[in-house]
Amino acid sequence: MAESSSDLRRRRWWRSTTTRVLAGVASVAATATVLVTAPAPGADAAASTLGAAAAQTGRYFGTAIAGSRLSNSAYTTIAAREFNMVTAENEMKPDATEPNQNQFNFSAGDQIYNWAVSRGMKVRGHTLAWHAQQPGWMQNMGGSALRSAMINHIQKVMAHYQGKLAHWDVVNEAFNEDGSRRQSNLQGTGNDWIEVAFRTARAADPSTKLCYNDYNIDNWNYGKTQGVYRMVQDFKARGVPIDCVGLQAHFTGGSSVPSSFQTTISSFAALGVDVALTEVDVTNSNTSQYQALTQACMNVARCVGITVWGVRDSDSWRANESPLLFDGNGNKKAAYNSVLNALNAGSPTTTPTTTPTGPTTSTTPTTPTTPGGGSCTATLSAGQSWGDRYNLNVSVSGSSTWTVTMNVPSPARISATWNINASWPSSQVLIAKPNGNGNNWGVTIMHNGNRNWPSVSCSAS
Ligand code: G3I
Repeated sequence: MAESSSDLRRRRWWRSTTTRVLAGVASVAATATVLVTAPAPGADAAASTLGAAAAQTGRYFGTAIAGSRLSNSAYTTIAAREFNMVTAENEMKPDATEPNQNQFNFSAGDQIYNWAVSRGMKVRGHTLAWHAQQPGWMQNMGGSALRSAMINHIQKVMAHYQGKLAHWDVVNEAFNEDGSRRQSNLQGTGNDWIEVAFRTARAADPSTKLCYNDYNIDNWNYGKTQGVYRMVQDFKARGVPIDCVGLQAHFTGGSSVPSSFQTTISSFAALGVDVALTEVDVTNSNTSQYQALTQACMNVARCVGITVWGVRDSDSWRANESPLLFDGNGNKKAAYNSVLNALNAGSPTTTPTTTPTGPTTSTTPTTPTTPGGGSCTATLSAGQSWGDRYNLNVSVSGSSTWTVTMNVPSPARISATWNINASWPSSQVLIAKPNGNGNNWGVTIMHNGNRNWPSVSCSAS
């Protein structure tokens, strides 16, 4: 569905409204604030990376990261540049995190987590309860012992990552193709095992969104899709805590994007859950299928993000199908452009209200510093805004070797950044440096009731 001209006008109006310039020039007194009404430079420009393009509509664009590849700079360069969400491909699964019963090992998962958050990316947890990739001790277990072990696993792993992850895939792949429950040792503990997993997860970490994740639930007219839909419907009706459904969207191995894909996404969303495409790949990176799946997500307000299952074709679990957005040499494929264009043309996750919500009081910029004698200016402008959060676009001019310090007024928190190298001296302070991809970047801020904009200072070196 194409964006209407009124949507487009509204989006442009949003991006050009309320521009604030905070000058960081050495000769200027410390606290000058200049309000202007002109659009920020580049505010209406198409974003040039997947993560930045998705963030403009309040979504993320992620990838699966394999810990073993983090030493490969060609891999990490692309991953850090393009994505703003990360899923550990194998390192947070039960066999990795609890290799011996009640002995936990988070080293591989933490390596990926730390790599991601130090670059301003967010992390999806994958996965807590699954019939596959169980440690050996768990595979041989059943009945009440396994039920207790599952609960303990969820509690301990979620405690380790408490408050840190955007989503958790609490239960993975629990249905058969006909919509019945998959037989497994977990299913053998009783039909209520999925709801027990979700209730345990909510109690363990109320701050993270709890997802059910599965493959082959893309076609609305398919038994498995209907089986999962009925479960989510039942959970919502009975108050079982569930926040999101992950459609893995593996359009490989003989499957392709069904014509009903958007209907499936919107039908789940209508139950009151977020929807995410969590493990996307497409045989031979068919351009029109990548375009269609991205467009379907963009057309549904509660489709919150897309994750591709790997960076380059050579990183894929189905490398022989060349299903990803970068070839083995790290070059962007045609499908990359179709996805980027669909993201840039997308509609926001939630329709913004007609009046943008700006700061309720003015902020005081911090003292600009110019250690190397150069100067730079950080310009903030309003991006999209939702009930609980808003985007700020930042444009830096002057020196190309800038450092911007952003102080966020408590209890607001930055929940996402794009197009910077980020570090965090504290939860309220962001240090942003160039990531080699230009001087326009941004943040998403969960306002938590405080809509004052952050203060920023720019220093050049
Ligand atoms: O790391 C060992 C290596 O030391 C050993 O020499 C080698 C020999 O087989 O195995 C390596 O482990 C492999 C691991 O990937 C890391 O490459 C496992 O054998 C292999 O089974 C494992 O496959 C993973 C698969 O899940 C297992 O179920 C894939 O990487 C991973 O992409 C895939 O991800 C799943 C999602 O979690 C759920 N949805 C489906 C998706 C694709 O199958």
